Amino acid sequence: MLKSHDPANKDRFAATLRTLRLMLGLLLLIVSLSCAREKVVSSCTDETGIYTYAAYPIGTAIDYEALRNDSTYRNLAIRQFNSFTPENIFKAEYLHPAEGVFHWTEADSFVNFCLANNKRLHGHTLVWHNQLPAWMSNYRGTAAEWEQLLKVHIQTIVSHFNQSVTAWDVVNEAFNEDGTLRNSIWKQKIGPGYIEKAFRFAQEANPHALLFYNDYNLESNPVKRKSVLALLNTLKSRGISVHGIGVQMHISTTYPEPSQIAEAFQEITSNHYLLHVSEFDIAVNPQGKTLSSGTSFFSAQAQRLGSVVSHYNQVAKRYQYGITFWGISDKNSWIRSFYNRQDYPLLFDDMYLPKPAYCTLIQTL
Ligand code: XIL
Repeated sequence: MLKSHDPANKDRFAATLRTLRLMLGLLLLIVSLSCAREKVVSSCTDETGIYTYAAYPIGTAIDYEALRNDSTYRNLAIRQFNSFTPENIFKAEYLHPAEGVFHWTEADSFVNFCLANNKRLHGHTLVWHNQLPAWMSNYRGTAAEWEQLLKVHIQTIVSHFNQSVTAWDVVNEAFNEDGTLRNSIWKQKIGPGYIEKAFRFAQEANPHALLFYNDYNLESNPVKRKSVLALLNTLKSRGISVHGIGVQMHISTTYPEPSQIAEAFQEITSNHYLLHVSEFDIAVNPQGKTLSSGTSFFSAQAQRLGSVVSHYNQVAKRYQYGITFWGISDKNSWIRSFYNRQDYPLLFDDMYLPKPAYCTLIQTL
């Protein structure tokens, strides 16, 4: 029989105590973690989807690879959003890889996916200085030949998709921050009139499509915005259809001020343009610091999102084309790879779980 003062017995007793303490600690950790997760999810668990709360379309950029290969991503896209913008596969390098060659396979299957799931398709983008195929960047020709290239590019694509695409970002990012025209390959080869021509070509190919000009910093830079408005107003005065403006809205938790955003919305809609918040994300780490904890900036992000959405709610209904997020989960966000930094700019975390910004969105819509 073991006696209480037996040293072996004492050791065993101490070991049992340590195990019990460890188990209790683990139990507490599990309970607190599941409570924390419960708090984020349960306050806004949503089986019906964000868009059902909204008076206007709620969209996302779609990463075609993820849509095809990742069923969690696909289900989330279908359930939460009712407007899809192809993140890459409608860009020139994908659709028009060689002179006279158009590649429709993925784009067509994406169109069918949108039709089958009753999602609006926002076409992005016809004329841009980035993601051009090499043959186009290296093309040698006169201004007239370049204009013909632009026409064939736009009209082949717009006609191909015809009415399955509701709207097009006809021209993307054509202005500098100081309000002058970017010296893009299009401006160099065709001259500043390429923007007018692009809208005209798109309109001829599909007179039913809504035609947008899309750019970044329009929410924060009044100089750039005013130049864009001046040019688009001139086009309209010449009878060219320009229906809307895409304000990309790649913002951060601290910049710009909500009042600047309100002013931008006001100015664009008082000039009678449909307003598309077209590539919404909210960076939490614009300086690219090493982040230690992931919670305090999520509430700042949620607050910032709430303020943008409240301002958008104030826009007259006839100008609300919708709000499109530039991705679904932080895992797929372009910010990480493009800027090579740690960031969490979207509504769902790396595990596809809803973040505080998601809850705020549902509460604000
Ligand atoms: C980005 C995509 O998200 C990335 O996957 C790609 O590598 C580069 O382009 N403004 C735009 C979008 O108009 O087309 C860009 O998309 C992001 C900035």
